Amino acid sequence: MSRPLGWTRLVLTVGVLGSVPVAAHSVQIPALPGSPRVPVLPLKEAPPRAALPAPEPIGDSIYPALGQRGLDVLHYDVTLHIDRPGTRGLRGVALLTLTSTRPLDTVSLDFLGPTVQDVRWNGRPVPWQQDETAAKLRLSPPTPLRPGQEAQVTVRYAGQAGVRQDQELGLDLGWVPVTDTAGRPLSNYTLSEPDGTRTFLPVNDHPSDPATFTLHVTVPRGYIVAASGLRGTERVVDEGWEYTFDQAQPIPTYALGLQVNHFQRVDSPAVPVGPGGAAVLRRDYFPDDTTDAVRRPYAQVGEMLRVLSGWFGPFPFPVHGAAVITPRVPALETATLLTMPVASSFERVIVHESAHQWFGDTVVLGDWADVWLNEGFATYAELLWLEAQGDDPAGIAATWYERLRDQGSRPLVATSEAQLFDQSAYLRGALALHALRAAVGDPAFRGFLQGYVREFNRRPVRTPDLLGFAARSLGPVAAMVLRTWVESPTLPPLPALRAPR
Ligand code: TRP
Ligand code: ZN
Repeated sequence: MSRPLGWTRLVLTVGVLGSVPVAAHSVQIPALPGSPRVPVLPLKEAPPRAALPAPEPIGDSIYPALGQRGLDVLHYDVTLHIDRPGTRGLRGVALLTLTSTRPLDTVSLDFLGPTVQDVRWNGRPVPWQQDETAAKLRLSPPTPLRPGQEAQVTVRYAGQAGVRQDQELGLDLGWVPVTDTAGRPLSNYTLSEPDGTRTFLPVNDHPSDPATFTLHVTVPRGYIVAASGLRGTERVVDEGWEYTFDQAQPIPTYALGLQVNHFQRVDSPAVPVGPGGAAVLRRDYFPDDTTDAVRRPYAQVGEMLRVLSGWFGPFPFPVHGAAVITPRVPALETATLLTMPVASSFERVIVHESAHQWFGDTVVLGDWADVWLNEGFATYAELLWLEAQGDDPAGIAATWYERLRDQGSRPLVATSEAQLFDQSAYLRGALALHALRAAVGDPAFRGFLQGYVREFNRRPVRTPDLLGFAARSLGPVAAMVLRTWVESPTLPPLPALRAPR
């Protein structure tokens, strides 16, 4: 079902997101405090009513509908009101600064979220269409957006966050409510890889278009907001507290972390692992009743950053930490603020998600088929950490190898959604790096890792880019080792690291 253009929203339309009906509450929506109420346009001045054409998506090989080709969102300035934490309800204004690499006469954003109320282009109302079937919000600029030209798009929305169920992982992505066993609302967290951010924010929802974010989130008194980026002002407003966060380094949309809970924030000493030894701030958020056993491994994060930055180069963000959640879901590498379930609060998982700050959050994917470039590197970081703690890396590699030999593996570029986060992406991806390290030795391997991060910093990377970089920096013989692990239909032999290093 296509919802007609925005202003006809007043004619009651019943939409369904997942199984949640979204019509009723979209009718009476109070204005956001602090921002002027949007004037209701007289009908004759309203934008023309016509379905807008669907522009070309980015062309991802696993998720072909996501994103818009040529669209480049630079910054998302997001105001969110979470009036009832623990539900899907939210109100928001998203102010996008965008440009393009080709002429665009329609701009199309991924949006699976609440009801759109108003859309503006550089402050002026423009025709728009919320297409719920396609999960797109389309808008028509007054004149086509020219390559390199910048514009600001404002989207005002309210209602219920969308539901995006991930069949493979068996969980809800995006803006997720947490209730107690009796169904009483408690808290919210985000878990958005690969395309959950569109459940609460209109976005160009593909990792090849990373952007910076500013968040202003208002919650009722007693709740605390934790989010990606540096903490800004915190102030009392009519409905509670407003928290501001500034994520000033571009990150993929799925890496935006945001949580609302009764938290205790724990600050730890800064770690000098940023560029040129710059201080990286440390803060973790624990739900009020978090046990000491769950908190304990987070005391190691400073040491983890030292070990990882020794291999990968400077930590790419000015702050790092975790926000712990209680549901039994997988951990996620949300930028500067790992989303860490209680049940995953172990050193090894924290190291893995921290390594993603380089691989995934900074070196971003050009296509979901190449997700092993995230998972293989993050898994290999586990070995590097354990090795630094005195474990035998050969033993860890052998364990991975046996699992793959027993359960089978595939070439590393994924060809289906089911393959994205399978054992091959993680373990074969990690062993590909291990094989490269065995072939070139530690100093060259370290140089390769750091060079790769520098070369592809915020530049979408695909598997051939990595192979090409290996050939340029390490030579054709080493590149062939890596390529064999990437492409071979069968599992290549497990190499041994050179003994004394
Ligand atoms: N990237 C996650 C990891 O570190 C795995 C993952 C993929 C995930 N999709 C997710 C976790 C969705 C939570 C939700 O391995
Ligand atoms: Zn991972």
